[in-house]
Amino acid sequence: MSETRLSPTRADLLAELNATRPVKVIAVTGGKGGVGKTTVSVNLAVSIAAQGRNVMLLDADLGMANVDVLLGLHTRFHLGHVIKGECLLEDAIITGPHGLQIVPASSGVKHMANLSAAEQAGIIRAFSDLYHKVEVMIIDTAAGLHESVTTFSEAAHHVVVVVCDEPASITDAYALIKVLSREHRVQRFQILANQTRRSGEGVELFKKISKVCDRFLNVGLEYAGCIPFDEYLRRSVQHQTAVVDAYPASISSIALKKLASTADKWLVPQGARGHLEFFVERMVGAELGSLTVLQ
Ligand SMILES: Nc1ncnc2c1ncn2[C@@H]1O[C@H](COP(=O)(O)OP(=O)(O)OP(=O)(O)O)[C@@H](O)[C@H]1O
Ligand SMILES: [Mg+2]
Repeated sequence: MSETRLSPTRADLLAELNATRPVKVIAVTGGKGGVGKTTVSVNLAVSIAAQGRNVMLLDADLGMANVDVLLGLHTRFHLGHVIKGECLLEDAIITGPHGLQIVPASSGVKHMANLSAAEQAGIIRAFSDLYHKVEVMIIDTAAGLHESVTTFSEAAHHVVVVVCDEPASITDAYALIKVLSREHRVQRFQILANQTRRSGEGVELFKKISKVCDRFLNVGLEYAGCIPFDEYLRRSVQHQTAVVDAYPASISSIALKKLASTADKWLVPQGARGHLEFFVERMVGAELGSLTVLQ
């Protein structure tokens, strides 16, 4: 007797994905421009993808996007097209090294740098309709305190603050932590020292920020490590390749891969947190799934 099998519909696929594991969402931010947010985002995403995980990288520097340029990739559509309704989010996704799935944004489009709260929420919700397998999503945010930075950081599970040992970077990082904690319910931060030039510099930088945060804010800071200043990293940018692929034995690559292993251990909150967040259905679905298993 032959059995008729229906091919799964998109709704079936979505339901299956939503019932599996929640997606770990990590926002990479920093306050000040040029501290290394994009460099860290790209190399962290590539390193985790190289470990065999399904990784998505969202370029959330919406008006000055450059993730695709750093990786030498060509884009047809970007988030600007998604917002205008000219394509679906899934049409904009391009594939990078080790199967990394990249959501590109636009560069030099003023409107994209000033999206309304509703448009930002629309982007976050659009991820819920994706049927792609994703275990980790990295978000490269813009510089400054623009609403997109705070909205995307609040909608993530972990916030990495990239800091360099210079006064403006430290004060901007503090300002960002203050706004995110007081106005956006982010209470835990991973501090990553970048472009360090001597051993011990990263820990000292972490202590400086911790001291002032402990005094004035009610937040928990963790030290995520340090990425040394590395000429090989600059060279890899010229080759439009992630340094972890171009120069895997370089000092920055070793530190970035260590960060990837650290981030792999960060936990995903159990269940939805009651505000706008990425892939919330997969979180609720996983929670319901584990309840079913327990029964
Ligand atoms: N550890 C490092 N060693 C050497 N150069 C670095 C390092 N980290 C970042 N850079 C360089 O610093 C510059 C700024 O880095 P990047 O673009 O990643 O910063 P950003 O914070 O994303 O900047 P923006 O605020 O403009 O988005 C780039 O030229 C990058 O190659
Ligand atoms: Mg950047």
